[in-house]
Amino acid sequence: MKIGLHEPLFKGNEKKYLLDCIKTNWVSTSGKYLNLFEKKIKKITGSKYVVPVLNGTIGLHISLITLGVKNGDEVIVPSITFIASVNSINYVGARPIFMDVDKYLNLDEKKCIEFLQKQTFMKKNICHNKKTKKAIRAIVIVHTFGNAAKFDMLQNLCKKKNIKIIEDAAESLGTKYTSKKFKNKHTGTIGELGVISFNGNKIVTSGNGGAVLTQDKKLYKKCRYLVFQAKDNNVNFIHNEVGYNYSLSNISAALGTAQLEMLNSNLDKKNKINKFYSDSFLKVKGANILQSPEYSKNNKWLNLLVLDKPLSKKTRAIFNSKTIQFRPIWYPNHLQKKYLHCQKFKINYANKIFKKIICIPSGPNLRNSQLKKICNFLKKALND
Ligand SMILES: Cc1ncc(COP(=O)(O)O)c(C=O)c1O
Repeated sequence: MKIGLHEPLFKGNEKKYLLDCIKTNWVSTSGKYLNLFEKKIKKITGSKYVVPVLNGTIGLHISLITLGVKNGDEVIVPSITFIASVNSINYVGARPIFMDVDKYLNLDEKKCIEFLQKQTFMKKNICHNKKTKKAIRAIVIVHTFGNAAKFDMLQNLCKKKNIKIIEDAAESLGTKYTSKKFKNKHTGTIGELGVISFNGNKIVTSGNGGAVLTQDKKLYKKCRYLVFQAKDNNVNFIHNEVGYNYSLSNISAALGTAQLEMLNSNLDKKNKINKFYSDSFLKVKGANILQSPEYSKNNKWLNLLVLDKPLSKKTRAIFNSKTIQFRPIWYPNHLQKKYLHCQKFKINYANKIFKKIICIPSGPNLRNSQLKKICNFLKKALND
């Protein structure tokens, strides 16, 4: 069987909880597993409030609406991220401004600060873009591949400029800061809102699923209200705002709850996988495993092999392998057809690095024999 990039591992209470939903008829947008799921996420992340949603993309969409980002506004986002971080900005009629990334493939904090200092002005306490004269209402900070992004200084500036922060923590469940200003904080709990994904390829899964985190009661209430169809009166069907049917189901929450019980064991396993790969490529010339930042304890969601040179046409054949699944990283979003017209600021590193990276299998179910096979396969492909 082909080794997948990131397959889920079901060895806990998944079946038991799913059958319980069917037996008790609690299969839709309320039920005890939704409550348990919410409680577990609160405990793991330390977040005061949690709203379970249908998936991470929807989590980002509803977060932008909750913060009042609307048609004609602008939102800052790094170019290297899964396209959902960018499309969600498009959904509300706003336009992305693309930023470069740092050596961990997270938003380049320094360049972003430079942009805000030199290219924006304040009018009526709203930050405006000098070039377009549009309001910059928010920034999406992505914790890419499970590595915590550095944004402690940027956060201060965003406060001054009244720019709201949404953390896209889709990939970073289990990742916490260990030093400085954000010490002991879980990714996704620092900005106004944070979003986690429970897609099948994440560290734990609810099938399709997501959660919005916030420490602000008002934002929590608004987000929950919008997610549940903006119901103002349950009996008479009064809806004073346009709401959405974005809540997670009890069935997905049942699967997610059982999976969250396995989070610590998956985190352990992922640390071991990362160590195996790092050691294995330690002495290989021209290739190394991307290391995580030292200011945080990272979940090691996906391992990336970084080459000194862009992948050759021959090496790219590994992406068609029938035995092991490899993938390049995302194509930079400022180069995507739908976003070519959008503003970008001094993007340099992203343009080069995306051609040099191979995403390698990292699921918690991988055995040592498979890890060896993957390393041998890669070493041979790079040598040929
Ligand atoms: C960085 C990032 N943001 C957002 C999403 C969207 O999450 P979902 O697939 O649950 O919609 C994903 C991944 O799936 C992601 O990797």
